[in-house]
This record gives sequence, C-alpha cells and structure tokens, in this order.
Amino acid sequence: MPLITVNDGEAAFVCEPGDTLLRAGLRSGVGLPYECGVGACGCCRGEVGTGEVIDHWPAAPGLSDRDRRKGRILACQCSPVGDVQLRLRLDPAAVPAIPPRRRTATLVAVNDVTHDIREFVFRSEEAAAFLPGQFAFLSLPGVERERAYSMANLANDRGEWRFYIRRVPGGDATGRLFDTLKPGAEVGLDAPYGQAYLRAESPRDIVCIAGGSGLAPMLSVTRGYAARTARDGRRLDFFYGARTPADVCGQAELAMLPGYGEDLGFQVAVSDAEAAQAAGWTGRTSLVHELVEATLGDRLGQCEFYLAGPPGMIEALLQLLQTKHRIPPERIHFDRFF
Ligand code: FES
Repeated sequence: MPLITVNDGEAAFVCEPGDTLLRAGLRSGVGLPYECGVGACGCCRGEVGTGEVIDHWPAAPGLSDRDRRKGRILACQCSPVGDVQLRLRLDPAAVPAIPPRRRTATLVAVNDVTHDIREFVFRSEEAAAFLPGQFAFLSLPGVERERAYSMANLANDRGEWRFYIRRVPGGDATGRLFDTLKPGAEVGLDAPYGQAYLRAESPRDIVCIAGGSGLAPMLSVTRGYAARTARDGRRLDFFYGARTPADVCGQAELAMLPGYGEDLGFQVAVSDAEAAQAAGWTGRTSLVHELVEATLGDRLGQCEFYLAGPPGMIEALLQLLQTKHRIPPERIHFDRFF
C-alpha cells in the first residue's frame, strides 16, 4: 500500500485502496486539517513534493485559481498512485479523538420530520462511536460519490446511526434515499468526521443555531448537553431558522429532553413573511440571526456557539458573532460545507 510521508517525516501513514489522503491520515490518527471532507472548504490544501496523485475533483471549489497555478491539491479529493511526499500544515487540534472507520450499515427505519426532511435510521454490527455534532460519509447503492450527513443521536453500543436528511430537488443521493432505499438495504458508512463537536468541558452557556437539515448535528450537540450527569448551572438555547411555517421542526425532539423549558430553551424564526402570513403564523418572523441577537442581548458575548445550516445563514451568523460582537473563533463551532 502507498506510504504517505508528511513534511519530510513529521508524520507518515499508509493509504488503503479507495481512500483519499485525508481519510487515510485521519484513520492513522494524523492531524490533517479539514472541515468538510468534500472539497468545499479548502482547509486540507497542500502540495505534493514527490509522487503522483489522482485528483477526483479537479474543479473542487476548495481550490482557487491561484492555488491551482501553484500546484496545490486538496487532501480530501486526492488518492495516491504510489508513495507520496506531502507538504501540508498539520494541526494538533485535528487529531481525531475517534479515528474514522468504514463499516456496513443497514437501513432499519424511515420517519417523516417535515414535508422535505426525513429521519433515516441505520444499524451497524459494531457500536456507533462518535462525538455529538460529528458527521458520516454514506456510500449509497447506485450513487457515484459519497455524501456527508450528520448524526442526530448520540454514540451508542447498539450501532444505531440516526440522520435527518433534507431532500435536494433533483439530487441523486437524496432521490435514492427518499424514493428507492427500503428498510433492509445496506450502505457503506465511514465515520466519524467533523470538528464542530460538543466541547463538554467548556463552562460557558451553549447556543445551538440550526437551519434546514442542520437540525441533525445541533440535536446531537443538545442531546450531548442534556446527557451530562449533573446540572451544572449551564444553559443551552436552541434556535431554529425556517423559511416557512411548514419547515419548522425540532421542538418535539427537544421537548423530550430533561430540563426543557428550564435550562434548555427552544425558539424559532420564520423568514418568509408572505408564507408566514398565508399560514397564519403567529410566531416570530425574521431571520434567525436577528432572533438570536434579540433574545440573548448582553449574554451573547459570554456564550459558546454551534452552527449548522445553509451558507447564507452561517455567513449572517458569522457577521453577527465575529464581526459585530467580536466572539473569538474558538468559541464558534461549525463545519464549513461551502
Ligand atoms: Fe478538503 Fe474541505 S476538507 S476541501
């Protein structure tokens, strides 16, 4: 198997057939920097010193034209042809607490959440090991590329993996999941990945902000918070941004958790005023970042934030948190999928 050497021997690992440089490194416990794992964020940029790689997505948005001119590659999109010398900035924070593994999982249940989000429940033979907020790559029968989806539940010995997935119009992966896959079907599941996991040791109040199927990782983080053994004075506020009243979700799941309505709060904002009016919506009508600011007020500067949702929502939240309120980046956790 190809041997990958990083920065003249700072780290070395072998790459199994079918793996990218990134995944092979993480499986070996090497701190290769990454966020999305799908070619979007650019965090895993590096250069090949010697050796040859196959680039599975030469047009990936994670590389700029300048990067391409300089011969840079994305570790998450390249597989080695033989031994490779790689130059790339290692990140101790990226050393995986749980090294990812490939396994087979069986679809055991499908549940409607909204008109376009469903819960898909898979079972694997071995325990489901991951941190709250992490994601998995699913390899679906008949779909060429793997897709990244976040778990909504917590690690467990039953091997249960729960995903909330939103149907993408015309999408081949979600088309397969929603229309073809039936309970009993087997998929490939490679996990865990992701840096936006719950920092259980932080003493700060937690704020989770979700939009769309970003509900899943934020539910996982919230469940991780709710599972702490003792009330420790911290609270968690969960905000959900929906476009229309038909997109609102999350409250039923949160209401089942201990502390709901006490030190665990849930609020929702609907952004499409016309749709809200047409549906007789009596709740808040605004963008979710406006709701967050109005609700938290002066507390905002003291909290730890977890974000998951569409790019526009994340950008607006970063503008609010980082630019306007000067929250340091180490207190804002999200995986950049764009
Ligand atoms: Fe490679 Fe995001 S991790 S581009």
